[in-house]
Amino acid sequence: MKIGLLGHGVVGSGVRQIIDTQLTSDIKKLEIKKILVKDESEITDDRMTLQYEDILNDDEIDVVVECMGGLEPAHTFITDAMKKGKHIVTSNKKMFATYYTEIMDLAKENNVAVMYEATCGGGIAWIDALNRTKKVDNILEISGIFNGTTNYILTKMHESDVAFRDVLKDAQNLGYAEADPSDDIDGLDARYKIAISSYTAFNQHFPIENVICYGIRNLQQQDVEYAKKLNATIKLLATARKNENSLEEYVMPNMISNNQMLAQVSNNFNAITCESNTLGSALYYGQGAGSLPTAHAVVQDILIIENGNPSTNTYEEGIIDNQIHRGKYYVRTKRPIVFKDIIEEEISEDAFLTKEVSLFEIHLACVTASDDSLFIAEVNV
Ligand SMILES: NC(=O)c1ccc[n+]([C@@H]2O[C@H](COP(=O)([O-])OP(=O)(O)OC[C@H]3O[C@@H](n4cnc5c(N)ncnc54)[C@H](OP(=O)(O)O)[C@@H]3O)[C@@H](O)[C@H]2O)c1
Repeated sequence: MKIGLLGHGVVGSGVRQIIDTQLTSDIKKLEIKKILVKDESEITDDRMTLQYEDILNDDEIDVVVECMGGLEPAHTFITDAMKKGKHIVTSNKKMFATYYTEIMDLAKENNVAVMYEATCGGGIAWIDALNRTKKVDNILEISGIFNGTTNYILTKMHESDVAFRDVLKDAQNLGYAEADPSDDIDGLDARYKIAISSYTAFNQHFPIENVICYGIRNLQQQDVEYAKKLNATIKLLATARKNENSLEEYVMPNMISNNQMLAQVSNNFNAITCESNTLGSALYYGQGAGSLPTAHAVVQDILIIENGNPSTNTYEEGIIDNQIHRGKYYVRTKRPIVFKDIIEEEISEDAFLTKEVSLFEIHLACVTASDDSLFIAEVNV
């Protein structure tokens, strides 16, 4: 099977490395024929080209593997490739979540496969687990740590009395966080991943903006100290739950009891649970990012296409209703007055614990507070 690789950065170079090594008999069936790079200075191999048309118009190339990131030109490149009858493998969660329905429709029209294991959970075969589970059972709930960068920051802030901005700087120096870390620390990366996981698990599509999303940008040591008093750890969890006629979808920091398994997941690891009737709760854990773990997932996807066994997702429009889930929340804000009717316990001048409220109710209060320094976490102890 001949492959056109788009992008030769962290993930793309890992894919080239794994395939070029030709380690196993399965990998020996794969060949990277062309690699798209952006700049003349990046050309280090005669397979490299600056022209996408060299890949698009090469009839020998069966699969286009997109590891460029960003919305454009990644979206145009892969849709053009599908129209030419080429299968697609992508690691680009932002592009895939944004254009999900268009991509799935095009795949069906052109009878090609679209594989996206590397978009969620790096190398832990999470999408494969969802596909296997849903063949046998109805998936009821997905929840977990989908973002390694924020998990690294949270781990360090629990281990020692360091400020958020200092740990973020460390994470950037180690290559865990990007120069613009907004997608990670504002929960947007986890939101792409929970949306893609839900589209897969529930065969339902919804606009990603409907997922309630809070990150850890405003986390302070005083919030960590409060969690510690509860014998809890703060984790950024993304959750999707199927109710009778609707879905609940949210990304929310959580104070979880130290005796829960997710509390033990440290540094840049991912850990996600999938709950279904017959399997019960299954936990998937591993490297959520990094060059070779992510490239491993990409290569597994190519082999699934090579073996003629890709899953196809159908979708109908799903309805999100975040009024059902109820919880208690820790909130720190400059405007506690907005929350006066739902405060159960004052913790300090600007922090409090709410009564049990619906997710929608607390979200509405947070929007009304319009406080760009607000930090919120669901309390699950
Ligand atoms: N890194 C991870 O651990 C990881 C894990 C899971 C998923 N992902 C996803 O995988 C994708 C790639 O991530 P990455 O970390 O590999 O990013 P990266 O290191 O920045 O690599 C992307 C590469 O694509 C190149 N590129 C961008 N636009 C191009 C164009 N028009 N033509 C040719 N080359 C182009 C970039 O070149 P320039 O540098 O010159 O712009 C860069 O070399 C992203 O969507 C990311 O979210 C990454």
